[in-house]
Amino acid sequence: MSVELLAAADDAAQTAYAPYSNFLVGAAARARDGRLFTGVNVENAAYPLGICAERCCIGAAATAGLKPGGLEEIAITASPCGGCRQWLAEWRFDRVTYRRGNGEVVTVTPADLLPDSFVL
Ligand code: THU
Repeated sequence: MSVELLAAADDAAQTAYAPYSNFLVGAAARARDGRLFTGVNVENAAYPLGICAERCCIGAAATAGLKPGGLEEIAITASPCGGCRQWLAEWRFDRVTYRRGNGEVVTVTPADLLPDSFVL
């Protein structure tokens, strides 16, 4: 299942808007009800304003009405950045699959990525 989701993330990455880094990232998340959401990184000339693929993907799910706990798993074509790890924790994914810089694909939990994460 995670392999399929990573394939969807790879497909999504093709539409990333990353003219500054040329580093295309895609993410695909499956909701508990089976719906699929995708996201890409969207950069901006004002560099810090760019958004990561994972956040774009979660934003698509939120737009459709999903809340934390409603997404079962996510696959990302790159290792999630620190800020995205906080988002992955907040949204309580069961599993996170991603491709490391060396090409290795791993499946972990949000707690593996961000131990003792901040929650309200
Ligand atoms: N990027 C993501 O989309 N997700 C991550 O978790 C890592 C970084 C993007 C942000 C930026 O557009 C590009 O990769 C290079 O940092």
